[in-house]
Amino acid sequence: MMGQPSADRPLLRAVNIGKSYTSPRAGAKPLVLFRDLSLEVAAGEMVAIVGESGAGKSSLLHILAALDEPSKGEVWCGATNITRLSQRAAAEFRNREIGYVWQFHYLLPEFTALENVAMPLLARGMRREEALQEAHRWMDNVGLADREDHRSGELSGGEQQRVSIARALVTRPKLLLADEPTGDLDNATADSVFSLLREVQREQGPAGVMVTHNMAFAARCDRMLHLHDGKLQSL
Ligand SMILES: Nc1ncnc2c1ncn2[C@@H]1O[C@H](COP(=O)(O)OP(=O)(O)OP(=O)(O)O)[C@@H](O)[C@H]1O
Ligand SMILES: [Mg+2]
Repeated sequence: MMGQPSADRPLLRAVNIGKSYTSPRAGAKPLVLFRDLSLEVAAGEMVAIVGESGAGKSSLLHILAALDEPSKGEVWCGATNITRLSQRAAAEFRNREIGYVWQFHYLLPEFTALENVAMPLLARGMRREEALQEAHRWMDNVGLADREDHRSGELSGGEQQRVSIARALVTRPKLLLADEPTGDLDNATADSVFSLLREVQREQGPAGVMVTHNMAFAARCDRMLHLHDGKLQSL
């Protein structure tokens, strides 16, 4: 059944990864974010990552999303070593297996909300009619069936994030990554967007990793980890 942590290997495994940024300035020391970081997340589990600004939370998510490479170590998503993929294979893998929600929605302004949600399905070659039908189901799931024809500029911040959640999950990804998905919202809207994210993640059962500055939301995840000094510690 979906939604249950699987008894076998965790869906996501980051193994002894390191990340440092080298500075173009001559003589400058590289910036070391983490040296030996490991993380496992099971299917159906939602892990929150908290930590001060600049700790490397977004950098870590970019590595888990195969958008950036670690300086060392490996990241496995299911049976795939995502640190070994070509750029093209990584893009395809992201489309097939990963859904993400960022602090900024990145909806395409010239398309309707419905078309934005259908986009990942169209990108993988699904017929337009079928993709729009599936997108419609998701707009309904996130409570925005009556906003389908709005463009992103015609939606509130909370609605934009709901559309982003629908777009992230429309492909039924195995891994859901969220980087401060409620960071730009007022308290009440943030609460409703977080609750929605948690609810659809529970229903769909992807492994989830969410970066947040909101300790109350972090506490409502299955586990809370603190990224500090390049290490992930359980809270
Ligand atoms: N491409 C890059 N090149 C060099 N340094 C970078 C790069 N990206 C991020 N950094 C640096 O790495 C550090 C960690 O950045 P990151 O965005 O991962 O932090 P964060 O934990 O997400 O912070 P915040 O809570 O403010 O979003 C920062 O000091 C940042 O300046
Ligand atoms: Mg960040």
